[in-house]
Amino acid sequence: MKIRRPIIAGNWKMHRTLSEAENLVKGLLIELTDLSDTDVVLCPPFTSLAKVADLVAKTPVRVGAQDMYWEKEGAFTGEISATMLRDVFCRYVILGHSERRQYFGETNALVNRKAKAALAASLRPIVCVGETLDQREKQDFKGILRTQLRESLEGISVEEIEEAIVAYEPVWAIGTGRNATPAQAQEVHALLRATLTDMTGAKTAAKIRIQYGGSVKPANAAELLAQPDIDGALVGGASLDARAFAAIVKAAT
Ligand code: 13P
Repeated sequence: MKIRRPIIAGNWKMHRTLSEAENLVKGLLIELTDLSDTDVVLCPPFTSLAKVADLVAKTPVRVGAQDMYWEKEGAFTGEISATMLRDVFCRYVILGHSERRQYFGETNALVNRKAKAALAASLRPIVCVGETLDQREKQDFKGILRTQLRESLEGISVEEIEEAIVAYEPVWAIGTGRNATPAQAQEVHALLRATLTDMTGAKTAAKIRIQYGGSVKPANAAELLAQPDIDGALVGGASLDARAFAAIVKAAT
């Protein structure tokens, strides 16, 4: 058994209406049989959060949002606060996903404000980092990843940081069918854990879970999850298929 409890999260992105979400969750609950050793989190769009939370209420499955804003309330048209997410029984929130960074201009500083606000509201942030193909091929991508992690978690106390989850998602592996090899992923996960060790000390860093994301499928999940520093998966496309997602959860268990 792994030292850290595996955590598999499904990032539905901008997919599924309310009725489609209901069908997907019902299918999933039939497929997910043994959850005793694994944390499972579903991250539907905002519009389905309350419904999904209601459907999984009597199960160990937890619900997460895909983003949030850092202010508690106010004149911020279109935004959703941590309090609102807690109100619909969310326990997690994905922050700084590469799609938010790429299409909506999110920076490390902004992710940091959101992470602090999430933790203050007892929401567990899933903080995403990842390099683009250009960065991997032409730049000091390891330095870029270290900076993303440091700046996104800067100023967060050691006690709070243990509640956070880190997700390594190489941008070139997202939705492309081209996953990082287990060795490539492990190399970066070890680098991220070493960075966490510098930031928080070895004891805390050993407790923080680091998920891999990017074309995780039933066929590659077991090998990725067998790596010593890979503590779970953040699954996009395959999380929209009940059988495929359940098979990935099984690979972690
Ligand atoms: P895919 O699994 O579709 O590659 O998406 C990964 C991802 O971005 C999860 O957050």
